[in-house]
Parts: sequence; C-alpha cells; structure tokens
Amino acid sequence: MLQREEFIRISLEINLFFQRIMKEHLFFIETNLQPVVPAYITEAKSLKQGFEGLLAETVCYANGVISEDAIKSNEFVTPYTLRAEKANSMLTGVSLNTGITKAELGLVSNPDNDYRNWFNAVHFLNDKSLKLLIKAINFQKRLLTMALECRIVIALYHEMLEHNTEEAEHYLEILKSLQNGVLPEKTLCEELNFWNDLMGEHSQFIDGMLDPTEKNLKKTAEAFANKFEALEEECVKSAEKQILRDSIEATEGLRDYKIAATTGLLKCEIKSIIPPLLADHVLREANHYLRILRMISGT
Ligand SMILES: [Fe+2]
Ligand SMILES: [Fe+2]
Repeated sequence: MLQREEFIRISLEINLFFQRIMKEHLFFIETNLQPVVPAYITEAKSLKQGFEGLLAETVCYANGVISEDAIKSNEFVTPYTLRAEKANSMLTGVSLNTGITKAELGLVSNPDNDYRNWFNAVHFLNDKSLKLLIKAINFQKRLLTMALECRIVIALYHEMLEHNTEEAEHYLEILKSLQNGVLPEKTLCEELNFWNDLMGEHSQFIDGMLDPTEKNLKKTAEAFANKFEALEEECVKSAEKQILRDSIEATEGLRDYKIAATTGLLKCEIKSIIPPLLADHVLREANHYLRILRMISGT
C-alpha cells in the first residue's frame, strides 16, 4: 500500500503529465476533423476543456508537492510548450489555455511542505479524472470505428488514434490502481515494451508526416522506428541491465531528435504536416519515459 504522502505526490505527478497529454489528443482531434461533423468537433472541444479544468486544479495542488526530479524531467512542460501552443492556436484558430502552461513553468518542489491532509481532495481529483477519461476513451474509440468504416475523415492516422487511446487506457489503469492505494504491477518487459512500442510509433508518425523532400530527417525517423521494434523483440531474451541500457540510449537519441524537430518546426525550417505542439507532445512523452527508465535503473 502507498503511504498517504506517496499517494498524493504520485497522483499529482501522474495527473500533471497525463491530463495535458489527454487534452492535447483532443485538441488534435478537434483541429483535424472536417466541418461536416460539427457535433464531434464540439464534443472534442468540450472534453479538452474538461481536462484543462482538471489540469488547472492539479497545478494548484502540485505546487510544492511534486518532486524535483519530476520538474526537471521536462515531462509536464518543456521550454518549447508555450511557444508551440501559441503557434498551433494561431495557425488553427482553436483555443488552448496557455495560462495553465505559464503556471506549470513556475512549479516548484518543497520537501518541507506538509500536505498529508490533501488526501481526500486528491482522491476526489483522481475520481473526476477517471470519469472524464472513460468518456474520452469511448469518444476516441467511436471516432476510430467511424474512420475505419470511412464514415468520417480525420487528418490523423488511424494508428495515431489507436496509439492515443492506448495512452489513455494506460492512464486509466494507473488511476484505478492509485484509487486502490497501489501502483499497477508490471514485469520489466511489459513496462519497457509498452513505452518502446509508443516510441517506435512516434518515429513512424514523424516519418509519415515529414515532407517527402526531408530525406535525411525521414531516414533517421525510420532508423529509430526499427531500433524500437528490435528492442521490443529482444526484451524477452536479453539480460535486464542490457535492455534497460539500450532503451535509455535509444530514448535519449529519440528525445534529442524530437528537440531538433520541435525547434526546427517552430523556426519554420522543416517542411512537414506536423503541428509544432505534436512535436512537443511526443518530446514530453519521451521525457516521461526517460524518468521511468531512470527510476527503474536507479540512475
Ligand atoms: Fe500522446
Ligand atoms: Fe504518444
């Protein structure tokens, strides 16, 4: 069982990371559906705003509670998030609450803070997140079915809709465990394969969304996709330490590539159909995975 403090701190860190991820998935849906389906655009917008409301609440509780390591990992916001949000908002005409991002950039850690009494408030926050998350998962699954049956057109890969739903279901599993006072139990390979699979898919998305003329960037993205696929296949037969080392090395490489992509897109130096916020989004997911890898390996 998790101690009260652990439950509060871990819940807030998980919500800070995933609530933003969820609201961005919904923003990408909202901005990539066609005008012929206004009801779905409205549904995506309202779910996005729901997560923004919860994220604003999480930020208030998180200040002075979350760990220094979590803040330093750049998994909640990166130095590029605010710029990417402004660019995407301006380019699509769709709103994003940048006030939350500014508040997140000011988050601090305070080891002397006594926050044991927040247990009920955080438990309630997890519960609200859980309920909204179930609605978002159902919505995304409905969209994917319609897209697969060619009843709607959405300018996002089907695999990306599936990928985003997997991330949402992963978040759901963590929230459910937290509400029972524990963390999900996973073998090392289950945990690594889940994230290595996502990292490989990010590489495929980037490859597929770069302009065909960006040959070098596409080649590197393809090499990353192959690397993560190989890591997944190796996990069962490799020694734990080796697979951890290889996953860290590959993810650090992909993180650097994503930083270059995000800054290149923000400077309009790369030809692609990748929204800058999507580049920053997948960068944060790599940063989150790197923190998990460091925790597992104790480095
Ligand atoms: Fe995501
Ligand atoms: Fe992802």
